[in-house]
Amino acid sequence: MADRLEEDEMGQTRRKLALLPLSVVGLALTAGCVDEKIVFQDRELFEEPLAVAGSFLGYTDHTTKLTVCGNCHIEKQGNWEETAHANAWAGLQDSGAAQAVCEGCHTVGQLGNTVSDVAGYEATGEERYEDVQCEACHGPGLEHVQNPTDLTVPLAPLNVGVDATQGCGECHSDSHHPFVEEWNASRHGGGANRPQYRNREGCDACHGGEGALRAWGVNTEYLEKGQGDEIGITCAVCHDPHDATNEHQLRWPIDSRNVDENLCMKCHQRRAIPDLDNPQRGPHSPQGPLLLGENVGWIPPNFAYNDQLIRGTHGSDANAELCATCHLNSYTVTDPASGDFVFSATGHLFKPTPCVDAAGIPTADDSCGQNVTERSFDSCTSAGCHGSEDAALSAKLIAQARIANLVAELDDLLALVPATEFDNDDGIFTVAEGANFNAGLGDIVSSAVHNPFLTEALLTASIQAVEDTYGVPAPPALVLENILGSKITVGN
Ligand code: HEC
Ligand code: HEC
Ligand code: HEC
Ligand code: HEC
Ligand code: HEC
Ligand code: HEC
Ligand code: HEC
Ligand code: HEC
Repeated sequence: MADRLEEDEMGQTRRKLALLPLSVVGLALTAGCVDEKIVFQDRELFEEPLAVAGSFLGYTDHTTKLTVCGNCHIEKQGNWEETAHANAWAGLQDSGAAQAVCEGCHTVGQLGNTVSDVAGYEATGEERYEDVQCEACHGPGLEHVQNPTDLTVPLAPLNVGVDATQGCGECHSDSHHPFVEEWNASRHGGGANRPQYRNREGCDACHGGEGALRAWGVNTEYLEKGQGDEIGITCAVCHDPHDATNEHQLRWPIDSRNVDENLCMKCHQRRAIPDLDNPQRGPHSPQGPLLLGENVGWIPPNFAYNDQLIRGTHGSDANAELCATCHLNSYTVTDPASGDFVFSATGHLFKPTPCVDAAGIPTADDSCGQNVTERSFDSCTSAGCHGSEDAALSAKLIAQARIANLVAELDDLLALVPATEFDNDDGIFTVAEGANFNAGLGDIVSSAVHNPFLTEALLTASIQAVEDTYGVPAPPALVLENILGSKITVGN
C-alpha cells in the first residue's frame, strides 16, 4: 500500500517532497502480525519520457489508472477515476470504429492544454498516455514533478474558444460534438454576451467565469486566475473537471428545486421581486424563481398566493431536469435521403427553440419566424411533454398573446396614475410601482413559457389593484379571469 501524501496537508507534503522529489515511499505491512515489520520501498513515479513526448508523463500504472500526478494529488486522482475521461480509451476501442485519426482526443497530448506541437500519445503511441488524464488539461508535468514546490506548476486553462489552441474545446469540437462551437455562439460564450460586466464588482458573480467560481467557493488555481482576463461562462464554470458526483460532471445539479443549489438558477435569479429601495428597477433574470413559482413578482393586496397553485407544469416534478430539459436539448441531424449522420446538436446554444438551417442544424441567429419549419421545437416533444411541435408552439403563442395583452392594458392604466406615485426617492413603495414591476415580468417574452399561470395571475391582480387604488378603469372588454390554466384563484 502506497503511503500517499494527503493533498489537503500540503505543508507536510512539501516537506516530504523536498526530501523525495522523484519517488514515493511504499509501506508494506505483514498481514496479521502484531509486531508488524515495516519495509520501505522506493517506487519510481515514472519512467523517463521519450524526448518526443514533450515532457508529458501519463500513467505511473496503466492497469490501475494511477496517473503520475495522482501519486501525490490523491483526492484529485480518486475523483478523476470516476469521470468519463478516465475511460476515454476504452470507449474508443469498444466503439469498433477506432482508427488513428480518433486517438488524439481520447488520450493525453497536445490537445486541451497550452502545448501545440504533437506530443504525448500521438508522438509516442505509448499506452501510458491513453485516456484523458490530468495532463490533457494541465499540460506536461515533468518539471513540476521534479520540483513540486517550484513555481512550475502546470495550471489548466479556464478559457476556451473556437480558435483557441487550449482548453476543453480542442477535443469537444467538430460536427460529432460541437460543444465549443455552440457554446461560443451562445450568450454564455461570445455571442452577444456583455463582457463589460465579467469583472465588474456586483456583476461578476453571474456575468463572469472567475467571479462565478469565486462566489461558489472554488478558490483553486488555474492559468488565468487573478490576471484580470475577462473570462466568460466557460465549460469549467458549469462542469467540474475532476468530479463526477453530479451527472455530466456538473458543479451543481440541474434537478434541484432550490434556487441556490440549481446550476442554472444560481445565476438566473438576480431580481425576481422588487427592490423596495430602488422601485425603478425591474426584473433581472427572474427565470429561476418564476419557473418554481417561488418568491417572484410584486404581490398585489388582493392576491391569494397559494403555494400549490402557482406552479406551471414546466416547473413541476413532471419536468425533473427543469431548465435543462428545454435549454439543453441535444439531438442528431441526419440526411433525410440517405439517413446518414450530418450533425450532433449538443444543446450548448442553450436555446430551447433554435432557428435551424435547411438541413435542420440549429443556428445562433434568432431572427427566423415562430413556426415549426424555421425553428426546432424538438425540446418540447422529445421529453414526451407535448404531443407535437405544432401543439407546443400554439400553446406558447396563446400564452404570449394573452400576457402581452394584459401588459398593454396594465401599461395603459399606469399611464393614468399620477407621476408622484412613481417617485423613486420618497421611500414609499406604491401599488403603481409594484404593478409596474409585474408589467416588467410580463414584458419578458419567456415568462409566458416559464410560468404562464403565475405571470397571468400577477398581471390580472395588478390591474385590479391599480383600478381599486387609483380609480382608473380598465376597458370593460378586458377579461380579468385567469384563462390560461385556471390554475390560480385571485381573491378579493
Ligand atoms: C511528487 C508529488 C507531486 C506530483 C507527482 C505532482 N504534484 Fe502537483 N503539487 C505538488 C505539491 C507539493 C504542490 C504544492 C506546491 C506549492 O504550493 O508550492 C503541487 C501543486 C500543484 C498545483 C497547484 C495547486 C495549488 O494550490 O497551488 C497543480 C495544479 C498541480 N500541482 C498539478 C499537478 C499535475 C497536473 C501533476 C501531474 C503532472 C502533478 N501536480 C504532480 C506535488 C506533486
Ligand atoms: C484530450 C481531449 C479532451 C479534453 C482536453 C477534454 N475532454 Fe472531455 N471528454 C473527452 C472524451 C474523449 C470524452 C468521452 C469519454 C468517454 O465517454 O469515453 C469526454 C467526456 C467528457 C464529459 C462526460 C460527459 C458525460 O456525459 O458525463 C464531460 C462532462 C467533459 N468531457 C467535459 C470536459 C471539460 C469541461 C473539459 C475541459 C475542462 C474537457 N472535457 C476536456 C475528451 C476531452
Ligand atoms: C476532436 C476530438 C475527437 C475526435 C477526433 C474523436 N473523438 Fe470520440 N469523443 C470526443 C469527445 C469530446 C467525446 C465526448 C462527447 C460527449 O460526451 O458528448 C467523445 C466520445 C466518443 C464516444 C463515446 C464514448 C462512450 O464511452 O460512450 C465514442 C465511442 C467515440 N468518441 C469514438 C470515436 C471514434 C470512433 C473516433 C474516430 C472515428 C473519435 N471518437 C474521434 C472527441 C473526439
Ligand atoms: C445573481 C446573478 C446576476 C447578477 C449579480 C447580475 N446579473 Fe445581470 N443577468 C444575469 C443573468 C442570468 C442574465 C441573463 C438572463 C436574462 O437576460 O434575463 C442577466 C442579464 C443582464 C442584462 C441583459 C438584460 C436583458 O434584458 O437582456 C444586463 C444589461 C445585465 N444583466 C447587467 C448587469 C449588471 C450591470 C450587473 C451588476 C450591477 C448585473 N447584471 C448583475 C444575472 C445576474
Ligand atoms: C478536464 C480537464 C482536467 C483534468 C482531466 C484534470 N484537471 Fe485538474 N484542474 C482543471 C481545471 C480547469 C482546474 C481549475 C478549476 C477547478 O479546480 O475546478 C484544475 C485544478 C486542479 C488543481 C488545483 C487545485 C487547487 O486547490 O488549487 C489540481 C491540484 C489539479 N487540478 C490536479 C489534477 C490532477 C491530479 C488530475 C488528474 C488526476 C487533474 N487535475 C485532472 C482541469 C482538469
Ligand atoms: C451554463 C452551463 C454550461 C456550460 C457553460 C457548459 N455546459 Fe456542458 N452541460 C451543461 C448541462 C446542464 C449539461 C447536461 C445536459 C442534459 O442533461 O441534458 C451539459 C452536458 C455536457 C456534456 C455531456 C453531453 C452528453 O450528453 O454526453 C458534455 C460533454 C459537455 N456538457 C461539455 C461541455 C463543454 C466542452 C463546454 C464548453 C465548450 C460546456 N459543456 C459548457 C451545462 C453547461
Ligand atoms: C455563472 C452564471 C450562470 C449560470 C450558471 C447559467 N447562466 Fe445562463 N446566463 C448568464 C448570464 C450572465 C447571461 C447573459 C449574458 C449576457 O447576455 O451578457 C446568461 C444568458 C443565458 C441565456 C440567453 C438569454 C437570452 O436572452 O438569449 C439562456 C437561455 C441561459 N442563460 C440559460 C441558462 C441555463 C439553462 C443554465 C443552466 C444550464 C444557465 N443559463 C446557467 C449566467 C449564467
Ligand atoms: C418548458 C421549457 C422551458 C423551461 C423549463 C425553461 N425555459 Fe427558458 N425559455 C423557454 C423558451 C421557449 C424560451 C423562449 C421564449 C421565446 O423567445 O418565445 C425561453 C427563454 C429563456 C431565456 C431568454 C431570455 C428571455 O427572457 O427572453 C432565458 C434567459 C431562459 N429561458 C432561462 C431559463 C432558465 C434559467 C430556466 C430554468 C429556471 C428556464 N429557462 C426554463 C423554455 C423553457
